[in-house]
Amino acid sequence: MKKKFLNLLKQPITNSYLSSINKRNTKNEYFYNLSVIFNTQNFLVSLSKPVDPKKQYTDKYAHRASQSFTMRQSFKSVANKLKSRFKPNFSMEIGSNDGVFLKNFKKNKIVAVEPCLNLAKITKKLGYKTYPNFWNRKLVNKILKEKSNFDLIYSANTISHIPNLKETFDAIYKSLNDNGVFVFEDPYMGSVIKMNSYDQFYDEHVHIFSLIAISNILKKSKLKVFDVELLQTHGGSTRFYVCKENAKFSINKSVKNLKSKELKQGLHKLSTYTKFASRVKKSKYELLELLKELKKKSKKVVSYGATYKSATIFNYCNIGNDLINYVLDSTKNKQGKFTPGKHILIKPSNNGIPEDVDYAFLGAWNFLKEIKKKEQKFLKRGGKFITHVPKIKIISL
Ligand code: TMP
Repeated sequence: MKKKFLNLLKQPITNSYLSSINKRNTKNEYFYNLSVIFNTQNFLVSLSKPVDPKKQYTDKYAHRASQSFTMRQSFKSVANKLKSRFKPNFSMEIGSNDGVFLKNFKKNKIVAVEPCLNLAKITKKLGYKTYPNFWNRKLVNKILKEKSNFDLIYSANTISHIPNLKETFDAIYKSLNDNGVFVFEDPYMGSVIKMNSYDQFYDEHVHIFSLIAISNILKKSKLKVFDVELLQTHGGSTRFYVCKENAKFSINKSVKNLKSKELKQGLHKLSTYTKFASRVKKSKYELLELLKELKKKSKKVVSYGATYKSATIFNYCNIGNDLINYVLDSTKNKQGKFTPGKHILIKPSNNGIPEDVDYAFLGAWNFLKEIKKKEQKFLKRGGKFITHVPKIKIISL
């Protein structure tokens, strides 16, 4: 049974930054109701009504995985790790974005799948065979007509974006060699509960995985998890190592350990999610209270990182220009645009937080370490960060 436990109200498509806020643009802005459900049978947490992917993954897709130093390092290190552990002869990446992972492979040793045409163009130009399509049964049939089966399939922050997991995993099964390995990483439900990071729910995150849920779902496609790692990326992710049920890999201790941790955390119980939903409401009211208080004191507050996550917060909490002056972001193609739904101007962050800013809300809280390092001047002159994870908190030097 599917039980709705969280209602994050009307939300825009997070990737739809507006180039100007004229009447025509705002009238055409697409909104949907963001609510979240728990499947009491397989323990999967998903959005109740996913948005049509064709509305999301367009040729104007803004996110560039290689924007942050942390992410470039992380992709390089996982590529090297996978190459040395599995020695793949032929690999594939699903959701290759701007090629930040691919670049660590020789051009004839990997193919890419990327439905956003602007991104697919980048990796094609770099010389990698790129299929500009959504990952599904039809695409796999086409790829397997042209190429051999794969030793390694890697996917970061993509599988959780796909509504139909059965078709997705059946297609993975078909594409893998008998002892091939599928490695995928996505935000982790255990971290969302622990950090109260409800902003992980937005249109692209159709599902937030736990090990117990993903194991149940993989079984239906004759696949299994044989190893798992917890990662710091994106505020807490899991990297699942998956193979065919009859493949040679034995199951690592990490799988049993995480499973018992999840059962202790109650990721299989509806009550865990309803309690989380109450904490989310509390977080909303505390954040609003703080921002209104700062406004009363005439403090200048901006947001740091025009993240998808912060779109959920701003729209759910109804935070607009009245409470946040503008948003800072280092991504060129977000700068000069307006955030989806609440229409806050995005300015370049490249020269650091301006002198007259008192507080910066961490839209990109998952990069706190990197941001703190960059913004020492801001902190030294008394500037403060605001975060909502795991609780509403002010961070100073
Ligand atoms: P993400 O969490 O979806 O990867 O988005 C992070 C956003 O934050 C991305 O738009 C880049 C931005 N950002 C900055 O503007 N400055 C920074 O120092 C970091 C780490 C990220």
